Amino acid sequence: MSRMPIMDVTLEGINPATPKALLLACVTLLFSVHLWRWLGQRSIRSPPGPFPWPIIGNAAQIGNSPHLYFTRMAKKYGNVFQIKLGSRTVVVLNGDSIRQALVKQGPEFAGRPDFTSFQYVSNGDGMAFNTLSAWWKMHRKVAQSTVRMFSTGNLQTKKTFEYHVLCEFRELLKLLVEKTKTHQFFEPLTYFVVSTANIMSAVCFGKRYSYEDEEFRQVVGRNQQFTQTVGAGSIVDVMPWLQYFPNPIKTIFDNFKKLNLEFGIFIRDKVIEHKKTIQSSTIRDMTDAFIVALDQLSEKTGIILVKDYVTPTVGDVFGASQDTLSTALQWIVLIFIKYPEMQIRLQQEVDKVVDRNRLPSIEDQMQLPYVMAFIYEVMRFTSFIPLTIPHSTTTDTSIMGLHHPKEHGRLHQPVVRQP
Ligand code: HEM
Repeated sequence: MSRMPIMDVTLEGINPATPKALLLACVTLLFSVHLWRWLGQRSIRSPPGPFPWPIIGNAAQIGNSPHLYFTRMAKKYGNVFQIKLGSRTVVVLNGDSIRQALVKQGPEFAGRPDFTSFQYVSNGDGMAFNTLSAWWKMHRKVAQSTVRMFSTGNLQTKKTFEYHVLCEFRELLKLLVEKTKTHQFFEPLTYFVVSTANIMSAVCFGKRYSYEDEEFRQVVGRNQQFTQTVGAGSIVDVMPWLQYFPNPIKTIFDNFKKLNLEFGIFIRDKVIEHKKTIQSSTIRDMTDAFIVALDQLSEKTGIILVKDYVTPTVGDVFGASQDTLSTALQWIVLIFIKYPEMQIRLQQEVDKVVDRNRLPSIEDQMQLPYVMAFIYEVMRFTSFIPLTIPHSTTTDTSIMGLHHPKEHGRLHQPVVRQP
């Protein structure tokens, strides 16, 4: 009778001194330790989840669309489940548990994991990718009130903001009409990116750019590369050793560092220009307002700001707004194409309220309930940001009855539903 081979080593043929036997012993030991720790963790009512492989955890299963993998796992394990990415334990939240964590247990879930990639966004000094601290709270508060001063603060600020939106929108409309006349089809995303970036550029720097401006298109046109790296499960963040030798993941990460550096230089140059010419009696734009607000914060608190925090603050607001809004616009166009009857109904509502010789304004909003419902529904239906920037826990806590120790990375994903 033939002997059963196990990993190319016959049972009788194992000689403890051979490299094969040694390798087999190491692998068995590694699996046993791993299995023992995994079972140990499960016994304290930590969230359920798929079995993680040693070293890589569940990284290989995630693929290019983490949100789809998470949707499958949520169906199997429930709204709160746990995976491992490299050596990191990550808890994924879905559905109601997101509100529970972000709103009801906000401070416990307000941290950010110390991911390598985060150090390259706004030079590691911004708000969006930094963890909870006394400085972070003050910084964020100042930023929030400054943004409000230039947008929804009062009727006057709303009108000024609307002016920037309408000016830019006229340019975008002109361009789209022209492209539709001269091309059978075209890809509108670049125009949406430039137009939303232009609105924020007008608000932040008092300047807009031409749609053909190659430098501006370069700086603002790499949102997808950015989100691919900072989105959930960036490989370098969970297996940092990958950045120390040549491999495709290192190449992607090097590109990510480069695009952040170039974006940072673009913003920094604007801030330097502003600092040279600012007169505190006349606030020209949001950059001036941030310069003054951060100076005042320093005076009020006695904190000496050894670094330039204006550049990362402007960078956060400029970056966060144009990527999200241009993606939303792109989805709206896709929905128009897929559901032309909705486009007709929207046009009919707008025609009832707004004369064709002007654009809709903020005052018309109350009379456009279908338009408003449509915008909210597009965001819910498409869930175009299915994964937020990862959070981490600031203390030992639990969610939906499941244990959640301090500093666990947490991703969350609203499960996409049909309308
Ligand atoms: C459809 C539009 C938008 C969507 C879907 C969106 C989504 C998000 C998400 C998911 C986060 C991460 C929150 C977290 O991790 O807790 C975030 C953070 C942020 N967003 Fe937006 N955003 C939008 C528009 C904007 C706009 C217009 C601005 C600026 C004017 C902006 C500025 C920021 C900033 C500064 C942060 C980081 C600071 C913080 O954590 O509070 N966003 N956004």
